Amino acid sequence: MHIAVLPGDGIGPEVTAQAVKALRALAANGPQFEFTQALVGDAAYDAGGDPLPEETARLAERADAVLFGAAGTYDSDLRPAEARGGHALLRLRKRMDLFANYRPVFAFPELLGASTLKREALEGVDLVVLRELTGDIYFGQPRGISVVDGERVGINTMRYTESEVRRVAHAGFRAARLRRRKLCSVDKANVLETSQLWRAVVTEVAADYPDVELTHQYVDAAAMLLVRKPRDFDVIVTGNIFGDILSDAAAMLTGSIGMLPSASLNAEGRGLYEPVHGSAPDIAGKDIANPLASILSAAMMLRLSLGQGGMADRMETAVRHVLAEGLRTADIMEDGATLVGTEAMGDAVARE
Ligand code: NAI
Ligand code: MG
Repeated sequence: MHIAVLPGDGIGPEVTAQAVKALRALAANGPQFEFTQALVGDAAYDAGGDPLPEETARLAERADAVLFGAAGTYDSDLRPAEARGGHALLRLRKRMDLFANYRPVFAFPELLGASTLKREALEGVDLVVLRELTGDIYFGQPRGISVVDGERVGINTMRYTESEVRRVAHAGFRAARLRRRKLCSVDKANVLETSQLWRAVVTEVAADYPDVELTHQYVDAAAMLLVRKPRDFDVIVTGNIFGDILSDAAAMLTGSIGMLPSASLNAEGRGLYEPVHGSAPDIAGKDIANPLASILSAAMMLRLSLGQGGMADRMETAVRHVLAEGLRTADIMEDGATLVGTEAMGDAVARE
């Protein structure tokens, strides 16, 4: 199994190294992994003038899966796209057609004490937000700022085609089948035509999955329910902009962004796996970043792209054991726990 490792910038290399370490530990008595590392983001731009070198993109396309760190830093965020490290990720998603973005939100019982939200609301939360990633108002044309009748007007176009909705709906039903068989489709069909199409197509696709219970929610109601009764959700499937917002809100249910993995898959099931967080320049190089989001992303990779569900389970169990032992990085630290750095956390998971 060939894994492309693109560590990127900031804490990207630090946390990705821990995920690779955990994968190597698993492989010690199982299927072998071959890792190929390449530059991406500011690191690639600084080395050769392109945040996504052709060589890196080809490697990502050729590999069985991509383990990604983070791309971009505050310094490069305001540069034009061709010089901006963070833009590499958008290009790679588009190029690999990674339209299905899965963000699981799981309230680790071992961590409930560290959360700022109510324990009763969080206990047992285990949901996935599936966000469509390559369409919607983020990509629709026309867009831009122009002057109309003497004042500036900003324009974006919300647009979804039937086939775009259909493929992500199928992904949602398939994900629900692997879990508690509940799919909640989120839209704004009372106001938006794209959402009316979305709802109609999702309902058609449901006919292929009679064993999955489908419900619909308006996005505003879904936001409220996510905070009030997050336990009621299993899989949420939604468009690009609603998914962006809902998944960040849902992320806070777990306590730290340093705990959240993600997967972005294309129609062939090939995927890019990365922590939800960015390059965190404020803590880079200090050995304090939480590597668990990257390690849990590697577990998703094992399960979703490499067909190694058993190994994925072992990886996740190892993380839970380490948390149960009381080891904590600074972002999830609580009274009575043992503070460890990035490397030590990675070592502990690898050992487990
Ligand atoms: P961020 O996620 O990098 O950091 C937000 C806050 O969370 C910071 O205080 C950081 O220290 C903390 N944090 C993040 N990951 C952590 C971890 N593993 N352990 C402990 N604390 C952690 O988001 P921000 O600050 O908005 O962006 C920083 C840079 O990363 C920007 O240049 C941005 O463009 C880039 N970025 C890249 C992403 C990607 O490659 N997928 C995603 C988001 C941002
Ligand atoms: Mg976001």
